[in-house]
Amino acid sequence: MMRSRNGREVLIAPSILSADFLALGDEVREASAAGADLLHLDMMDGHFVPNLTFGPPVVERLRKITSVPLEAHLMVERPEIYLTDLANGGMHRVTVHWEASSHLHYVLSRIRELGMRAGVALSPATPVAMVSDILDMIDLVLVMTVNPGFGGQSFIGHSFEKIAAMRALLDSRGAAHVSLEVDGGIKPANIAQVVDCGADTIVMGSAIFGDTPCEAVFREIRERLEKT
Ligand code: DX5
Ligand code: ZN
Repeated sequence: MMRSRNGREVLIAPSILSADFLALGDEVREASAAGADLLHLDMMDGHFVPNLTFGPPVVERLRKITSVPLEAHLMVERPEIYLTDLANGGMHRVTVHWEASSHLHYVLSRIRELGMRAGVALSPATPVAMVSDILDMIDLVLVMTVNPGFGGQSFIGHSFEKIAAMRALLDSRGAAHVSLEVDGGIKPANIAQVVDCGADTIVMGSAIFGDTPCEAVFREIRERLEKT
């Protein structure tokens, strides 16, 4: 669904972490129909983060019920061991954490070799410069604006500057092919500010799978983005 602000196209990626897992199919169908551009799948292994979610078998099932592209946000140690299964399950893009990959260069080339788009996520304490030497190997960078592991946390305030710094880095390096995604604590109330700092893809979990119906949240997002 086309959405933009000041000439920049803005994609929305609902994170199913806050969905009702007992009604996951319905939740995903609803978010897809409401205008999701990507479905953000948070995979956690209980080691890299103190929480567990789901793995490739769930991806395969989700692939069958929506045509929205799937993206995996791997909050796991040794992400390389899941890549083949994710590719076979129909994953469009895979993001691995800078902090979790001791052989990031290898992991990123492997993701692309399997036909998927490759991304790197930075936790809040990791400086933007860490992606400097791998810009030609990635399709997106994911700036975390909460500590990874749980939905429903508050946006870390000074992240606005970090997003702007990442945008400046990408622009100064002519890395127009790298999308800037932001994840954690984003609501309709702060989405315009996040986009104004330079983000083009917005992950939203609790805001989309909360008490308000999906469609109404997407409407509010559009209104907020249109406001000057
Ligand atoms: C947190 C996850 C997020 C989470 C965002 O580790 O990476 O994708 O679902 O949830 P909200 O939007 O509620 O902060
Ligand atoms: Zn995420």
